[in-house]
Amino acid sequence: MTAVVEARGLGRTLALEPPVLLVADASFSIMAGSFTSIIGPSGCGKSSLLYLLGLLDRPTQGQLLVDGQDVTGLGGDARARIRLERFGFVFQFHFLLPELTALENVMLPMRRLGRLGNAAVRERAMSLLGDLALGEKVDRLPGQLSGGERQRVAIARALANDPAVILADEPTGSLDSVNSERVLATLHQLAREQARAVICVTHDSSIAASADTCIRMLDGRVVAMG
Ligand SMILES: Nc1ncnc2c1ncn2[C@@H]1O[C@H](COP(=O)(O)OP(=O)(O)OP(=O)(O)O)[C@@H](O)[C@H]1O
Ligand SMILES: [Mg+2]
Repeated sequence: MTAVVEARGLGRTLALEPPVLLVADASFSIMAGSFTSIIGPSGCGKSSLLYLLGLLDRPTQGQLLVDGQDVTGLGGDARARIRLERFGFVFQFHFLLPELTALENVMLPMRRLGRLGNAAVRERAMSLLGDLALGEKVDRLPGQLSGGERQRVAIARALANDPAVILADEPTGSLDSVNSERVLATLHQLAREQARAVICVTHDSSIAASADTCIRMLDGRVVAMG
């Protein structure tokens, strides 16, 4: 089986004076259907690693493979395309567009990809929001939703283009325990029932404990995996 994402000695150092090491020498494979957590103290490089894996940032060292293809040297357009087609992102703060409704926010990535016509885009967005128990609230603006509801809209948006990989950076960081549980259950379901690879940066020990694989980082390096 081909890994959906593979890091080979992946790293990023900022060319400042003195240089700042964000991530060094990360090597691992992420398989479809797996739930991986990335843990470690604040400032150890978790978000930086996630940005490298999601092609939001460029490595200065090593290689990144997506679906077995080396994407390290690809140009900006090709990288943006892979990001749109293969990755869904969920952050601690939802980053929904405030002037668009829940439905419009979820439709946006599909419009950008341009694979589906208008009616199909709308139908898929409705169905994703319905799956996340938001069917009654599709016409609300983000400001008219609770924190947990907004985070579920963000998950629906992340799923819009049917990504193979969900990258989440402290997705429950701004939620209470009930909503954290819901979001966590949803992420697990995406891995287990839909064979997506979920990679989740977290400070939450219960999320880390529930993962198939846990990547522990310290000072930019992966110090343990298991
Ligand atoms: N542009 C930058 N210039 C200098 N240092 C930076 C820059 N971006 C990140 N860093 C540093 O790189 C390190 C890794 O940052 P990163 O955001 O990946 O940490 P993190 O593990 O996600 O932390 P947290 O748990 O607080 O979110 C930190 O020490 C941070 O201060
Ligand atoms: Mg972070």
